Amino acid sequence: MSDNHLRLGVNIDHVATVRNARGGAYPDPLRAAKLAEEAGADGITAHLREDRRHISDDDIDGLMEVLSVPLNFEMAATEEMQKIALRHKPHAVCIVPEKREERTTEGGLEVAREENKLAHFIAPLRDVGCRVSIFIAADQRQIEAAHRIGAEVIELHTGAYCDAMAEGHTEVAERELDALRQMSTFAHSLGLEVHAGHGLTYDTVQPVAAFPEVRELNIGHFLIGEAIFRGLTPAIAEMRRLMDEARG
Ligand code: PXP
Repeated sequence: MSDNHLRLGVNIDHVATVRNARGGAYPDPLRAAKLAEEAGADGITAHLREDRRHISDDDIDGLMEVLSVPLNFEMAATEEMQKIALRHKPHAVCIVPEKREERTTEGGLEVAREENKLAHFIAPLRDVGCRVSIFIAADQRQIEAAHRIGAEVIELHTGAYCDAMAEGHTEVAERELDALRQMSTFAHSLGLEVHAGHGLTYDTVQPVAAFPEVRELNIGHFLIGEAIFRGLTPAIAEMRRLMDEARG
């Protein structure tokens, strides 16, 4: 695969959201993950939340067993999640902030104020070979702190840019996009691998996909929603096409 290849991580959390609405086994997130692989996903992302509102512990067991592409395991910086990650040793662990009352991951992680704690938290994960990524806002202070604690990857939160686009606030969206662009360059200059995600759609993906420093996008909610209308495979194929087009 060329150096310019932008990886697509498909987040399958919301297949589990639909399953859990009825409490049974259908639709199965593992089946979605295998289909996503066949459709060209370079990785699968799943967030095991503290309240298990979508992905379950069994889903993570299953994903570790059936996937042929890397699993990006999203988790909060808690002892319980650390134990689970150390047991499974997924390819990547993405540390995200988590609040029970939020509908989704609303902001980036506060790394700068929690540096020592987070440095100790991620060290054992790195020791077992997980690539540790930190989900943060496009903020230089947070990027510098992520670098200091020994993270290899940062994932930039694209939610503010996507929300501004959805609400038609184009000036705000441009400002957010500028910050994402500048902070991708800055993080890359420190030697960090740069990923991005949250809220991306067909309408918002291309400007972010065009940043040469960004190596991976993680996209979930929109793709699972779009799958209702066109099916999961075509929904992913179209995202792949847009990303490749933006990459030139
Ligand atoms: N990246 C991270 C770190 C996330 O927490 C999420 C949401 O779980 C995503 C990407 C995907 O966001 P969305 O589902 O809005 O595409």
